[in-house]
Amino acid sequence: PHKRVTKICCIGAGYVGGPTCAVIAYKCPHITVTIVDLNQARIDAWNSDELPIYEPGLDEVVKAVRGKNLFFSTDVDTAIKEADLIFVSVNTPTKKSGVGKGFAADLGYVESATRHIAKVAVSDKIVVEKSTVPCRTAQSMRKILDSNGKPGARFDILSNPEFLAEGTAIRDLFAPDRVLIGSLDTANGRAAAASLADVYGNWVPRKQVITMNLWSSELSKLAANALLAQRISSINALSAICEATGADVDEVSYAVGLDSRIGPKFLKASVGFGGSCFQKDILNLVYLSESLHLPDVAEYWRQVVEMNESQKRRFTQHIISSLFNTLTGKRLAVLGFAFKKDTGDTRESAAITLIKYFRQEQAKIAIYDPKVEESQIWYDLAEPGVVDDVTALKKQVTITSSAYEAAEGADAVVICTEWDEFRDTKLDYEKIYATMNKPAFIFDGRLILNQKKLEKIGFKVECIGRSR
Ligand code: NAD
Ligand code: UGA
Repeated sequence: PHKRVTKICCIGAGYVGGPTCAVIAYKCPHITVTIVDLNQARIDAWNSDELPIYEPGLDEVVKAVRGKNLFFSTDVDTAIKEADLIFVSVNTPTKKSGVGKGFAADLGYVESATRHIAKVAVSDKIVVEKSTVPCRTAQSMRKILDSNGKPGARFDILSNPEFLAEGTAIRDLFAPDRVLIGSLDTANGRAAAASLADVYGNWVPRKQVITMNLWSSELSKLAANALLAQRISSINALSAICEATGADVDEVSYAVGLDSRIGPKFLKASVGFGGSCFQKDILNLVYLSESLHLPDVAEYWRQVVEMNESQKRRFTQHIISSLFNTLTGKRLAVLGFAFKKDTGDTRESAAITLIKYFRQEQAKIAIYDPKVEESQIWYDLAEPGVVDDVTALKKQVTITSSAYEAAEGADAVVICTEWDEFRDTKLDYEKIYATMNKPAFIFDGRLILNQKKLEKIGFKVECIGRSR
């Protein structure tokens, strides 16, 4: 017999904790869900009309259940005390200093959340690792809980990695390909897994809720991200061959994707992948491989990140050589700053790196993104630690409120994010052409434009993965 969960606490009200637990509350009216965070401003935003993250469909879900069975709070102690099950959904960034700097995951937030649970809990808890963590982190959590917990409080630890993608989080959570639950293969471990499986069972078909051992579950999350990112680096590596040979990368992806063993998804060539997780999780895997004395394995995965960096450099080089080998004083209209469409998230966005390169070439840059806040763009572009870099930045960079304004007087338009509103069926490219310097260039880093149509208007169009 396993426990029926009626109260859930989620520690960490971020991109994962917020949407994931809001959907649990929405799908399970009999469960009370409290999402807690140390960041008061973030919790205030979750309790307001302006949610702290933009995600299609999220507003509706939150508004339907907030105040009924979904609560946002900074009272971490009470939420832990009352819960049967606690998700740990805190950030696990790449370490910035010390051993494993630049590769290993910083598990400081996971540890402090775990210690918090041990300190406060007075009854049995199921503790669920939702954050993406290195293999065997559950073991460390267990040691912390067992050596600090109060007598009478027993802890079962589960791994339940999250596979949602930003921009489609609600869709992914409503209909996940699978839900993964890792547990110890003991009676208590299996019972805890069954309790969590029941929660998902309220809307996810049972055969898609899979259980396995803890370490497989932890590693599967890193493996999934590594394999997805590897496909993008593979197609980007092929895009370079296409540009040099006259093959068209979209045609190549289409042709190979029809092979049912390969499949069509995640084969879109681009300026390079961004987002908070792909690079971080692969570097984590590289570090894990190195710690396990597997240098060849580490090197293999490191190349996925290296190819991604190379793609951004190559794209920049292509822009410089097309613009007659100098960007000095030229105006570049950068369309899109988010790391993908339908999100305001800019973490590791390719646009940040590209703009850094353009600045080094003394270009003038005008940026437009439909969802990213202006303050976020300044924050991302300023060099950390450089006093008053923003003043220098503002001499070179402007942020505009439309694509038209960004393109005014520009020598080139550079598509960095695949927002639907940048498509040639949505934007009036004739109007854009009229206001640009000639020859007017477009660099399509996302392959969203109809090259022939734009060439007819007069543009010089350069696309990733197509020969010049
Ligand atoms: P985030 O930075 O948006 O949110 C984490 C939150 O945890 C922050 O608001 C922070 O204030 C809070 N926090 C940290 N320590 C705390 C503590 N001790 N007590 C209370 N609150 C605390 O991060 P995120 O994007 O939601 O990612 C969380 C985890 O999920 C990471 O491990 C990430 O790798 C993983 N993940 C992210 C995504 C994604 O799409 N962003 C998808 C799958 C998995
Ligand atoms: C990714 C995974 O898809 C999720 O399953 C995972 O849960 C998540 O990481 C995570 O662990 O954080 P996310 O980064 O939100 O999700 O978005 P993706 O759709 O995977 O896109 C990542 C980057 O790759 C974006 O910059 C996107 O533009 C780029 N991309 C994606 C391509 O360049 N080509 C493609 O074919 C697909």
